[in-house]
Amino acid sequence: MCGIVGYVGPQTPGSRPLEVVMGGLARLEYRGYDSAGVALVTPHGLVSAKKAGKLANLVAELDREPLPAATAAIGHTRWATHGAPTDRNAHPHLSADQRVAVIHNGIIENFVQLRAELTESGVQLLSDTDTEVVAHLLARAYDGDLTTAMRTVARRLHGTFTLLAVHADAPDTVVGTRHDSPLVVGLGEGENFLGSDVAAFIAHTREAMELGQDQVVTLTPSSVEIVDFDGNPIAPKRYTVDWDASAAEKGGFRSFMDKEIHDQPHAVADTLLGRLDPAGRLVLDEIRVDEAVLRQIDKIIVVACGTAAYAGQVAKYAIEHWCRIPVEVELAHEFRYRDPIVNGKTLVVAVSQSGETMDTLMAVRHAREQGATVLAIVNTHGSTIPRESDAVLYTHAGPEVAVASTKAFLAQITAAYLLGLYLAQLRGTKFPDEIAEILDDLREIPDKIQEVLDAAGPVRHAAVEMKDVPSVLFLGRHVGFPVAMEGALKLKEIAYIHAEGFAAGELKHGPIALIEEGQPVFIIVPSPHGRDSLHSKVVSNIQEIRARGARTLVVAEEGDLDVLPFADRVFFVPRTASLLAPLLAVVPLQIFACELAAAKGLDVDQPRNLAKSVTVE
Ligand code: AGP
Repeated sequence: MCGIVGYVGPQTPGSRPLEVVMGGLARLEYRGYDSAGVALVTPHGLVSAKKAGKLANLVAELDREPLPAATAAIGHTRWATHGAPTDRNAHPHLSADQRVAVIHNGIIENFVQLRAELTESGVQLLSDTDTEVVAHLLARAYDGDLTTAMRTVARRLHGTFTLLAVHADAPDTVVGTRHDSPLVVGLGEGENFLGSDVAAFIAHTREAMELGQDQVVTLTPSSVEIVDFDGNPIAPKRYTVDWDASAAEKGGFRSFMDKEIHDQPHAVADTLLGRLDPAGRLVLDEIRVDEAVLRQIDKIIVVACGTAAYAGQVAKYAIEHWCRIPVEVELAHEFRYRDPIVNGKTLVVAVSQSGETMDTLMAVRHAREQGATVLAIVNTHGSTIPRESDAVLYTHAGPEVAVASTKAFLAQITAAYLLGLYLAQLRGTKFPDEIAEILDDLREIPDKIQEVLDAAGPVRHAAVEMKDVPSVLFLGRHVGFPVAMEGALKLKEIAYIHAEGFAAGELKHGPIALIEEGQPVFIIVPSPHGRDSLHSKVVSNIQEIRARGARTLVVAEEGDLDVLPFADRVFFVPRTASLLAPLLAVVPLQIFACELAAAKGLDVDQPRNLAKSVTVE
């Protein structure tokens, strides 16, 4: 969850290293953090500055005490794991001789033993962190070559880590390594970059390089060398980041979340792009799993967390209906502990926006150990989960900066639908013309999302009006049930309001006891043209709660007049196929949560206690 930036450039000391690193940290702020710091390599040795709190505190410190010109720099935004978020515990950490500086993302699980070893050898540790041990170990292992020292130390560490280090002796070098934690290389002209994700250096280059597990990268202004922990050279994979710098900016919206909600037509359209051959047949070349393997799959298990798990739950209905394969959706952190029944005929689908969620990564590993084929549906290129999967189907939602996931959710559902249609095509459970019809419906979704966005005024008004309500309930049925769960999650995580999503049919089994005068309840109503009787059952649910005093906010299909007598507010969405309805029904719920949080004056993009990517278990 920490933000990491490294830079090495021309060997004429200047301000660029600090500027690049501070700019990168600013772009990584979304990852959630509670302190920040930088270290520079100057002709007169290492200098550093670090402060608890937001980046602004570090900027103020640098204004108070400017750092000298440098040739290389590393920077860090820390999400505290070991040691409180204080100046002392902020990164970088320096060795006792002040010749080595290191920054770290992850958790070093054997740091207590390493601290004891260092203390016994007379080293005085200044912080409460696990990271500081690395600075001292690197100094002790250094024998003129920082890369070798990093390999030596990395092999001793247990847990998860992305590490960057610089040495006073090597003004033209930054060394990095990773184990179960993200690190990507940015390739420049006469300068090179490192980042915990591409947002760290996207303003400077879109040429990137993946760093694999247990590899060490050595950057100089003119070279990037990668070796494994044993020193064997690695030929890295280059790729071009297709997000431009402006994509990660707010683009005039009040918050990244608001911008990303409005990015959703593009997110869905781009995720569909390039996946049909001229004959209209699905061609998912990223899948790269042997067709014979996919034909013999007899079970699909989706593993994911949070919003990504709700995307999996939506997709379950469609994939089961189209492919006639049982689909389980399991919270990734529960998966391996329930002793799941997984074998060579199981397809495990790991859904993740960041591609770095540790719970999901661990589920992927377990699934592969059990012989399953693992396919990742991920938004972030170069991230760990796709690298550790058999195949990947990338969503093309672009950078999702706000902690609350919105456009990635729609893109994940879209990608999962494509997977379902691909399997249906491969296994012959759907005729080509049936698949073509569903794809036609999918291609209309971006414009229909735009219609919902254009008609969002009443939703925003309702949110402002209800900004002080203590709780909101969400009801849905069939594919509307995970939509209700997702709507509740949005409100919880950014407006800090208790919210709960229920299956509408569950009301009479308990939750209806929660209904009292004025209780706001969102109800996602199925299409009147969908599965028989589902619509009338949900309309009855609205009637039941309204009779008990609920304030009913209804999301319904345009033209559905049956809901009007029992709805305090109705937010209509365009008609679409029943299984695709979640792509539209969730949008009013996203807007409601975003608007209500803003009305409460909360930090919509970086809500308290949360990080964008949960890279620890
Ligand atoms: C969603 O709004 C939350 N930020 C959270 O539930 C998130 O979806 C979850 O942590 C999974 O993240 P991932 O998609 O990057 O794996």
